[in-house]
Amino acid sequence: MSIQEIRFFGDPVLTTPASLVVDFDKELRVLVQDLTDTMIDAPGAGLAAPQIGVPLRVFVWDVDEALGHLINPTLTLSEEMQDGEEGCLSFPEIRYQTPRAMRAVAKGFNMHGEPITVEGSEFLARALQHETDHLDGILFIDKLLPEDRKLAMKEIRESEWFNLASEQGRAIQVKDSPHTIFGRIS
Ligand code: NI
Repeated sequence: MSIQEIRFFGDPVLTTPASLVVDFDKELRVLVQDLTDTMIDAPGAGLAAPQIGVPLRVFVWDVDEALGHLINPTLTLSEEMQDGEEGCLSFPEIRYQTPRAMRAVAKGFNMHGEPITVEGSEFLARALQHETDHLDGILFIDKLLPEDRKLAMKEIRESEWFNLASEQGRAIQVKDSPHTIFGRIS
């Protein structure tokens, strides 16, 4: 088992869209294992490859005592929405009410390249949406209501982890325009 360092908000890998997995090889199986080990160690309910610095479309989850992983996912969402608190291992201690679809159907592949479909509601649906967003460089703070987002940004700017990353030159500068904050880093 191999626990990897989790990247915090500010690291450009988190806001860059990840690439499709092409080779379903041993390296991919090691990646799924590393993601699983790192998620369990954190502990967290889900983890996407960009969060450990790997820009590939892979994520894992641990919801209702069931581990899962999905590669190259596509999502179909219900119109019905749910409310609930959400957080992210890349934003330590930051939690906000995050609107999400109530149900999600995710299609993709397992690590052996076999097509799989995962259907979830409530928390599993939330996790599938949160993790698939990570693969598109979208973070949960992008999904908050405007007022909550302002509060979240303030809390992030004041957080120890964000300031430490900034001092180490690992955080992008945070400004108030979403276009500047969440735009691609070229
Ligand atoms: Ni996350």
